Amino acid sequence: MKLGIAVGYLIVDRLLSLAGQIACQSFPPEFRFGVATSSYQIEGAWNKKIKGENIWDHLLHTRPEFVADRSNGDVACDSYHLWEQDLDLIAEMGVDFYRFSINWPRLLPNGFANKISADGRRYYGDLISGLRARGIAPVVTLYHWELPQSLQDLGGWANPLSVEWFADYARVVFSLYADQVDTWLTINEAIYVCEPSYRDIVAPGLVNEVGALLCSKYILLAHAAAYRIYEEEFKPKYGGEVSIANHEFWFEPKTDEDLDITVLARDYAFTRFSYPIYSAEGGWPPLLEAFMEEKSKSEGYPRSKLPAFTPEEIELVKGSYDFFGLNHYSSRTVRAALPGEEYGAFSADGFDEIGAILESRPEWASESGQDWLTVHPEGIRNLLNRIKQQYGDIKIMITENGFTDLDGDLNDIGRIEYFESYLEQVLLAINGDKVNVVGYTAWSLLDNFEWTSGYQSHFGMHAVDFSDPRRPRTPKASARYFKSVARARSLDVGNFTAAN
Ligand code: BGC
Repeated sequence: MKLGIAVGYLIVDRLLSLAGQIACQSFPPEFRFGVATSSYQIEGAWNKKIKGENIWDHLLHTRPEFVADRSNGDVACDSYHLWEQDLDLIAEMGVDFYRFSINWPRLLPNGFANKISADGRRYYGDLISGLRARGIAPVVTLYHWELPQSLQDLGGWANPLSVEWFADYARVVFSLYADQVDTWLTINEAIYVCEPSYRDIVAPGLVNEVGALLCSKYILLAHAAAYRIYEEEFKPKYGGEVSIANHEFWFEPKTDEDLDITVLARDYAFTRFSYPIYSAEGGWPPLLEAFMEEKSKSEGYPRSKLPAFTPEEIELVKGSYDFFGLNHYSSRTVRAALPGEEYGAFSADGFDEIGAILESRPEWASESGQDWLTVHPEGIRNLLNRIKQQYGDIKIMITENGFTDLDGDLNDIGRIEYFESYLEQVLLAINGDKVNVVGYTAWSLLDNFEWTSGYQSHFGMHAVDFSDPRRPRTPKASARYFKSVARARSLDVGNFTAAN
């Protein structure tokens, strides 16, 4: 009898622990999975009909050496023509949404809202209704780095009027598609729009550290203006949600001595673009604001290089979100630069401004073949917890996460392992730490034009043959893996470490 009870307990215990494991492997029922791309990286058709030139078109036509393989996005994946094939691939994966971006001068050829291209309007209209017909929700990014060159010629994001230009563009897009789109992202990665662009690393390829800081203010105001337009003119009718997609690495001090510089580096790179929106106080992060004021003074500037917000601007930007959009790929250690030390590639995005050196740990080294993409899955859990700690229990949507390789192998085990290990940490954040993560977006649907790495870096779950004018797409093992996870809403999907 006693033995019977003991065996009974044992069985119940096993069942409970199995249920626990399954529960831990499972995402909440309302959790949403999606895949992402951006317009310049996939569309091609750079001068089709009356499309205007954007800053990447212009840069790579005038300075082709900017890209490792001297390639550009003139044709890319040719998704302008092959969009229906893309939508079929997405439908086959069974994901809930597709995040893509609108190429500003494809819709507004000269950048201004006085002239809307019928072709651009039709193209994005077809894409959106094609998605909906397949049961996939469109998640639309208004700006994934495709500034019209005509506006760059007027100063781009360093011109205060860029706030109006972007607001006008946003209103056009909302007017055309708000009845069919529920989730919007205004700006993709403000840090990359403002820092490497003014350090001759990405388009428009300028060198001007003050430009980077002016851009920071105006891009936040532009985001907020678009948010408020939606809130006032469209939300009452359609009830959709709008936010910004900010990029964040996980930063940790290299040693215990490096805590202060790590906090400053976080403020400089990330909190600069989140604190004004998500904090209760609004405005620039106080530590960064004080640091920049002091530094600008010591350099002889009559005022801070980081332009102040007025009280009205603080109110406009504060609270301009419906969720936190997070792009995350990798982690870094931070330490203070030694006197006269060179800033390595990791620190090129403006960290000389604050004297921080970014590095990696040997145990994070990856097979990605791209130095910057070190793998440290715990970083995403730490980051999700820090966002909650800093801004409260807000909804967080992971708007990008993904892995690259240089060989483009169809049996892309490295990518599957990356997704699995990062998703495990996301689950721990949801189930263990009770962080309110509502969705996950895998970057990317397709191998595509990976900015200055051209076509040598492959982030796609589908390979594209760029040597074939028909640009055929082939699913990789990771497409099958991601499909299984998205359909099961669980990581308990068997062994995918080989193409099966
Ligand atoms: C960008 C993508 C890019 C990806 C991988 C993200 O920061 O939004 O456009 O392809 O990183 O580098």
